[in-house]
Amino acid sequence: MLPLCSYLTIVLTAILFSFTSSAIDTSTHEDNFLQCLYTYSHNSTSISKLVYTKNNSSYSSILQFTIQNLRFASNTIPKPLVIITPKEISHIQTTITCSQNHGLQVRIRSGGHDFEGRSYVSDVPFVILDLTNFREIELDVEKKTAWVQSGVTLGELYYKISRKSRNLGFSAGVCPTIGVGGHISGGGYGNMVRKFGLAADNVIDAHIIDVKGRFLDRQAMGEDLFWAIRGGGGASFGVIVSWKIKLVHVPSIVTVFTLPKTLEQNATKLIHKWQYVASKIDENIVINVILQRANSSKKGESKKNSTVLALFQTLFLGGVDKLIPLMQQNFPELGLVKEDCTQMSWIESVVYLYGFPKGESPEALLNRTLAGKDIYKVKSDFVKIPIPEIGFEGIWPMFDEDGGKDAMMYLFPYGGIMDNISESEIPFPHRYGNLYQTHYSVHWHQENDEVEKVKLNWIRKLYSYMEPFVSMSPRTAYINYRDLDIGVNNKNGYTSYKKASVWGVKYFKNNFKRLAKVKSIVDPLNFFRNEQSVPSLVSKGGI
Ligand code: FDA
Repeated sequence: MLPLCSYLTIVLTAILFSFTSSAIDTSTHEDNFLQCLYTYSHNSTSISKLVYTKNNSSYSSILQFTIQNLRFASNTIPKPLVIITPKEISHIQTTITCSQNHGLQVRIRSGGHDFEGRSYVSDVPFVILDLTNFREIELDVEKKTAWVQSGVTLGELYYKISRKSRNLGFSAGVCPTIGVGGHISGGGYGNMVRKFGLAADNVIDAHIIDVKGRFLDRQAMGEDLFWAIRGGGGASFGVIVSWKIKLVHVPSIVTVFTLPKTLEQNATKLIHKWQYVASKIDENIVINVILQRANSSKKGESKKNSTVLALFQTLFLGGVDKLIPLMQQNFPELGLVKEDCTQMSWIESVVYLYGFPKGESPEALLNRTLAGKDIYKVKSDFVKIPIPEIGFEGIWPMFDEDGGKDAMMYLFPYGGIMDNISESEIPFPHRYGNLYQTHYSVHWHQENDEVEKVKLNWIRKLYSYMEPFVSMSPRTAYINYRDLDIGVNNKNGYTSYKKASVWGVKYFKNNFKRLAKVKSIVDPLNFFRNEQSVPSLVSKGGI
């Protein structure tokens, strides 16, 4: 391990800088930070190749590379003074040390999919620690485990597992370009969540670098910190370098289908029934529903030529011959027949359910830039009591409004093993009693203040409309669908537990208190912080 300044020196210097930072211009911060970085790196030539300042011609392309939400890519958004793309543990340790020494915040980025851009945006002078070079996957097929570094994407992980065995997989998100660093830190659900739980439920060890620059595994970090990082949200406790995960058994053949139903085809009744079925049916089935506006085929019959389309999209961990009777028994109204279904390998189902064109090969999962980037805002809810048909009928006209164009609503079922895991097993608390998670998204394609206003108003109106139908006291939300509307920490200085609870209890319910206690022990002075980081109970200063 490289020689680090003593923790006390770092902290005192950092506090000093926090008092004087307004008087120091950002170029001084940057120069001092860089000097520190090169001084403490045992090979300053090697680290200099991994550091990008605004003068570097690659700065913009490195910054933009994994930005998913272009809402946070515009020129008006604050940019990092420096981007560091470490290749070694010591590079991360030095970055943490020098940022503290020179009063800079660190934003940690793995896959860059944070819905509110918190891995690459800050209002105070900051650097980005971009883990894109931490990309190793070590698989142990015999033991059904893998060590996966934070910069690996889900697509790379799924692909690599599938090359070793047709019968192994991992239970995590749907979008292949998501980074495991942020995803597992916030929970991570996907099409196998009802059978195997969240990605974070399947973590058995981890490597983290803490605020003191120490490299810790599960044993060294202790069970409290190990609990906190599995679902407590990224960027509050340290830099996760890698996760050790449990692989899961997948059958050689799985079955998928996508059934589109419009309002004219009874979509409202089907969705209403779906609420009673999807979280109770055999745990090998995940039927999710995607709702969006579509053209109506019944043109001319009425003035209205649009409708709402509900896509019933399914993964079944088994063959079609088992699926059909299960569906006939539990959800005959959907009218599923064998011809609607396709059998394939699990890895092919990952490709299919992401929405690649039919026949696309699994190699497509290795493309780190494939997610169609646009500008968006997302909000989430959990539903515990089925919404009456009339409740859904109140939503449909909203899709006809200007803001509802390109908007989507997703309904994703829980139940299965999720009902059997206690709310406090890991920080993610949305377990027994949650029928499904729903999230809403609005999209637009060009920066434009007026359009943004219309879109944001629309999604906030829908969110407000949904209030009587979703979880309450608290109205819960999913940390990986970060939503700054639900509350933020103070921009500068200390945020009390009470203030942070406004958003924290929505994401974590009673687990928020324990998260704050862990934070107070591992990062008492609140170095790792952002708009929705867990607060320290002991720090009033904040650096
Ligand atoms: P990013 O790098 O932006 O990090 C997210 C947060 O974690 C930031 O606060 C960041 O600082 C922190 N962080 C990142 N790496 C860290 C590390 N190594 N150590 C400590 N902190 C770290 N979710 C889901 O559960 N199921 C799904 O199917 C999907 N689908 C989906 C599709 C699309 C298109 C998007 C944009 C997002 C999703 N998500 C999702 C949400 C996704 O799981 C969530 O945004 C993750 O936090 C993204 O992790 P990244 O590493 O990609 O993001």
